Amino acid sequence: MRVLVTGGAGYIGSHTLLELMAQGHEVCVFDNYSNATPDVLTRVRSLSNGVIHDYVGDVRDSDKLDEVLQDFQPDAVIHFAGLKAVGESAEKPLYYYDVNVSGTLTLLRAMARAGCKKLIFSSSATVYGEPEYLPYDEAHPTNPTSVYGRTKLMAESILSDWAAAGDDRTAVLLRYFNPVGAHASAQIGEDPKDVPNNLMPFIAQVAVGKRDVLQVFGEDYDTPDGTGLRDYIHVVDLARAHVAAIDYAANAHGARAFNIGTGLSYSVRDMVSAFEKASGQQIPTKTVPRRAGDIAVMQADASRAKAELDWEATHGLDDMAASTWAWQSQNPDGYEQR
Ligand code: WQD
Repeated sequence: MRVLVTGGAGYIGSHTLLELMAQGHEVCVFDNYSNATPDVLTRVRSLSNGVIHDYVGDVRDSDKLDEVLQDFQPDAVIHFAGLKAVGESAEKPLYYYDVNVSGTLTLLRAMARAGCKKLIFSSSATVYGEPEYLPYDEAHPTNPTSVYGRTKLMAESILSDWAAAGDDRTAVLLRYFNPVGAHASAQIGEDPKDVPNNLMPFIAQVAVGKRDVLQVFGEDYDTPDGTGLRDYIHVVDLARAHVAAIDYAANAHGARAFNIGTGLSYSVRDMVSAFEKASGQQIPTKTVPRRAGDIAVMQADASRAKAELDWEATHGLDDMAASTWAWQSQNPDGYEQR
């Protein structure tokens, strides 16, 4: 299929390009490089030896979207382009609604003009909010606790209503748990611009000497070691879930949500130990109070994705830690060469 990938130069987008090309799909990237660099595509091109069409543009720019959709004529769109920092979303709510919600609307209108009716959406397990039961299945009530989470849920609602309004429309809503890890080549990976918000990139920067100490946000949760439990998912498994969603969308109609996780969960301490083992480095830690808005446990019931997408995670914790370390140690400044 011909697949347009918005946000294709980002962390998850870049890994997805490689998996799509490996399965014979033709790809085109649409990215405004607000949180990525064109060097990513140089590396993906050399890893794949394939053709990647690319356009620079913002998902709120209808004219630019019309141009790429008319030129490339995609059969489907994978929509990664969006903002994802929970803390920043509380400070800049209108910016988040604009990019994540209006951006999705603008994209859908441009797709309608180009006759493209299939969309795979980069959603988040954060749409569920405080668990009423665990593991979360897709029927769990949705009650996000952040502006960011609400933008994702609103975009999901728009996509569901859009898909229901035409027989041949498909929206696949992929609710990611906690993506970590990097490609086996160590050529692409996560490259946070400022202080990392997330656990794994923070641990990786401590291991490589860029930061002194990992702050553990709370050791008084009702979990075996007192730290938060999360369902970490290797980014290559996550990328493959998008390829599975593209295959599914070829024959499905309407909107459908899928949890993309492993069904297992690990604590902050488990992640630190796995990383120390993979890197041979000590990770100094300091326990501090809980981070506002954090919940104790997030864990996926990923059985729907297995049954309907024929997808399941294959990479375990050791590989998540080892691939993160390989990427971080070989690219200490990310895509910025020293
Ligand atoms: C994991 C665990 C922290 C950093 C967030 C978003 C979510 C999704 C993924 C995009 C928690 C603890 C963390 C640190 C720590 N994003 N931690 N010290 O909060 O589960 O999810 O990222 O879609 O929407 O909310 O991930 O990696 O920030 O935290 O102790 O320096 O690590 O308290 O238990 P989270 P995370």
